[in-house]
Amino acid sequence: MNRMSRAARQSSTHEGEPLTEIGQDGQSGLRGLVQVQAETDRGRYDSVARFFHWTFAAWIIYASITGYSLTRMADGPVHDSLSQLNMSIGTVLIVLFPLRVGWKLVRIAPPALPDVSVEQQLLARIVHVVIYVTIFAVLASGFLMVPNGYPLFGLVEIHTPFQKGPLTDELFAVHRASCALLVGLVILHVAAVIKHQLISRNDVLRRML
Ligand code: HEM
Ligand code: HEM
Repeated sequence: MNRMSRAARQSSTHEGEPLTEIGQDGQSGLRGLVQVQAETDRGRYDSVARFFHWTFAAWIIYASITGYSLTRMADGPVHDSLSQLNMSIGTVLIVLFPLRVGWKLVRIAPPALPDVSVEQQLLARIVHVVIYVTIFAVLASGFLMVPNGYPLFGLVEIHTPFQKGPLTDELFAVHRASCALLVGLVILHVAAVIKHQLISRNDVLRRML
């Protein structure tokens, strides 16, 4: 038995996930954590990746629905409250985004599903990377296009760098375009998951649950 699997065995587990005493025999630190995680939980994304995935998914879906509704809504207190809530939720995603990317860079992804061709795996990976880049564009343009700042959950004033003008208008255009692209990518992504789950029946959903 190698050093890693011995460390995994020694660690306490919760739903198959190691929580404590990682790397007692020298394999301490983040790398040890992700290796033990992968060792004990093959076939599923780790709990941190799943937390990021579903937090972003829920908030992106919510922000898209309210974002499109807001642009059709008349100005007034309801519009302003929803808009401030949207910007506040977007701000939380701005903080979480580098953590999610950082985790993606150090974590070990579960092995590919056996019945998925190399071409399909590559396509899925490309779509995932494009989703990340698009989320970045949505968040950056959303933040930079707001003139003069906004209140975060009504508590703290967040300052933004630009006054209202042609630049903020252009950034709004970038926000609109990147939001539309993100909606398209998410539809494609969910269609692929449904196809794998219901037609190929390879239980892809379990990897992210
Ligand atoms: C805004 C919505 C969503 C976004 C932005 C999104 C994004 C992603 C990304 C980037 C990955 C790659 C793994 C990672 O880096 O985290 C992924 C994997 C996955 N997502 Fe989503 N997702 C969304 C919604 C959904 C929904 C609604 C479902 C379920 C129907 C779903 C099911 C999955 C599954 C099963 C995987 C694992 C696929 C694999 O093993 O290759 N996602 N998603
Ligand atoms: C992933 C996060 C986000 C998503 C999915 C999202 C989505 C959207 C959508 C779909 C629209 C409507 C676009 C259109 O009319 O074509 C919109 C508008 C808007 N977004 Fe975002 N957005 C996000 C992040 C942000 C952030 C971080 C900010 C600023 C801090 C922001 C500020 C705004 C503003 C000010 C509008 C104009 C509508 C309003 O008055 O609220 N968004 N957003």
